[in-house]
Amino acid sequence: MDDRVLVGSTAPLARAESAPSHVWRLDDGGRQTLVIGALRDRLPQVVYWGAPLPRDEDLSVIFEGAQIDITGGMLDENPDLSLCPEAVRTFPGQPGLICRAQDGTPLLPKFCFESAEKEAGLTLRYRDEAAGLRLIFRFGVDAQTRIITAQTVLEADAPVHLHWLAAPVMPGPQAADEMIDVSGRWCGEFQMNRTAWSPGMRYRENRTGRTGHEHFPGLMIPARGCTNTQGEAWGFHYGWSGGHKMIAEELPDGRRQIQFGHAARMEHEAATRFETAPLYLTYSATGLNGCAVSFQRHLRDRIVTWPKSPTERPVHYNCWEAVYFDHSLPVLKDIASRAAAIGAERFVLDDGWFGQRDDDTRALSDWEVDPRKYPDGLDPLISHVHSLGMTFGIWFEPEMINPDSDIHRLHPEWALGSEDQTLGRNQKAMNMARADVRDFIFERMAAILGNHEIDYIKWDHNRVLPMPDAAQTRGSYALIDRLRAAFPDVEIESCASGGGRIDFGILSRTQRVWLSDSNDALERLRMQHDAALFLPMAITGSHVGPRQCHTSGRTLDISFRAWVAAQRHMGFEMDPRELDDREEAVLTEVTAWWKRNRGWMAEADILRLDSSDPAVIAEQQMPREGDRFVVFAGKSRTSAQISPRPLRLAALEPGARYKVWLTNRISAPALSRGHPILKHDPIEVSGAWLMSHGVTLPWSYPETMWVLEGERL
Ligand code: GLA
Repeated sequence: MDDRVLVGSTAPLARAESAPSHVWRLDDGGRQTLVIGALRDRLPQVVYWGAPLPRDEDLSVIFEGAQIDITGGMLDENPDLSLCPEAVRTFPGQPGLICRAQDGTPLLPKFCFESAEKEAGLTLRYRDEAAGLRLIFRFGVDAQTRIITAQTVLEADAPVHLHWLAAPVMPGPQAADEMIDVSGRWCGEFQMNRTAWSPGMRYRENRTGRTGHEHFPGLMIPARGCTNTQGEAWGFHYGWSGGHKMIAEELPDGRRQIQFGHAARMEHEAATRFETAPLYLTYSATGLNGCAVSFQRHLRDRIVTWPKSPTERPVHYNCWEAVYFDHSLPVLKDIASRAAAIGAERFVLDDGWFGQRDDDTRALSDWEVDPRKYPDGLDPLISHVHSLGMTFGIWFEPEMINPDSDIHRLHPEWALGSEDQTLGRNQKAMNMARADVRDFIFERMAAILGNHEIDYIKWDHNRVLPMPDAAQTRGSYALIDRLRAAFPDVEIESCASGGGRIDFGILSRTQRVWLSDSNDALERLRMQHDAALFLPMAITGSHVGPRQCHTSGRTLDISFRAWVAAQRHMGFEMDPRELDDREEAVLTEVTAWWKRNRGWMAEADILRLDSSDPAVIAEQQMPREGDRFVVFAGKSRTSAQISPRPLRLAALEPGARYKVWLTNRISAPALSRGHPILKHDPIEVSGAWLMSHGVTLPWSYPETMWVLEGERL
């Protein structure tokens, strides 16, 4: 080397100054490593989160190697982007904690290291002696699902008011140009938003008091070039049902931070202990699908507690769109018989069976069977349903009360919020923080569940809260926990005008979600595809709706409606009396197909495919063993080009051979005049070909679904 080209000193800097006092690493045994380090006794920072690092990596160097330089216009030392960035340390972005003493004085803590435990994950304790505050960070790693769980706890010697507490703050990857988060609306859940990273922040806050259609608490950060099937991605989910806040901020120096926590100011009382919900994290080098599969598996295998094996998901029939509030025993019996004949295995009696509930203006909270509609109680209907070999489920909206109800007349003080509040669907929320309210609801529900053979509750929540309130969410959780302890065999579906309460917090207490009030198969196809970034098949309810959809007015063929429902936990919601012979035959056949396959599908991964045709929304469901798969290729609209583009499959063994066949090949319309081989015969090909060339499907109409099955030979 020629010394003369060297500019400046090559002498080492005072390394001791920049060397970490502590470094810890978390590994999931093969897919990701997280390195956390701290300078002196200060709060620690995540200095690495990505592909696994070698076991013998020098973590001090990793820590130091992550530190950015200092130049003009900067402080003399860069403020730490720590697990809880501290306002008092000149941090230029949003702090991770905002709290006040009970008298209102702002607290500006500066935490110092206390202890670290490496048992069952990692627990780090920090303390601010003068302020009387302790901050605890907990990390757990699941080597099977590849999910890292992170949580922050704040403890105080004297009660404090909490404004904001972030779960452990993560650095935002620098290799990403954008982030994907999730919004939505009634009948339009799980809409993906891509936002470019830029200086400043993307701030999402859900102040509705429930998880909400509008702000599903999830985030994906794709690295440049990432698709569903390839590239790097980082995934986040905040498991809380009371409304969350997310900050994705790029600091002036270019660093990025991601914060998740409860919506701000939702703790109304001063207290000595607060904790965030768990933040679920995962890194993938196999595209968005790597994150999706981790979330799906973690939710299904770790979060949901199943009374029965998830492989036995029964086919549902739900009577809502058939009868609404108009309950008549002979009609319901007839509907149940017809539903059973098509293949239903669980009959769910929806809204309208209690109080004087003839429409949605009254009777919520009057949880007693309406003797006008059911003079002999529910037993005649339940026995009929059982005689058909179906189990029985029932609808409740436990946290709600109509001003026009006996209970509201008796206990107006049980409603949450002011007397003159704006109603939602003519109703108020009950104050779930009150033990007497919870006792009342528990007793009424227990009376119905205890006196009847009921194995399923559709648990609804049809309005937003008057204001965000963490105590309300904790009260709802406590009620569900108590009911589950008393009725451990009863499954619960989480519904909130469709998908308004879907998150890992509610799903640790429930087993199914009603993804959307839209039974429009076209809209469902898209929603199910995007929701699969987080939700597995086994917990995602999907029903075949009426011929003309009640929420979109669209008329779709039975075959498309049936296959879209068969992608997830299948059910029916139309009035079976409207089905003509062909519709009944198609539905019976698809339902039988679903029953033959639900066992392995309930434990399979959903892989979103990178369709070369934007009109085709496609996914591949495949068990972990990879020995078989089914591909659902839904054509959402007419393609721009005339012929279908080959559809590339994913995650197969390149060297293995697969037999692949088109399950519903007889559906090819007459306008498909050619002879693509799959239209006539199964093919035997390598995984390499299926992934690099892809299958050529026959021409088809828009609003149809090709179903392709395969097995490894
Ligand atoms: C909500 C649900 C529907 C149905 C009605 C009953 O809107 O999302 O599926 O249960 O309530 O009132």
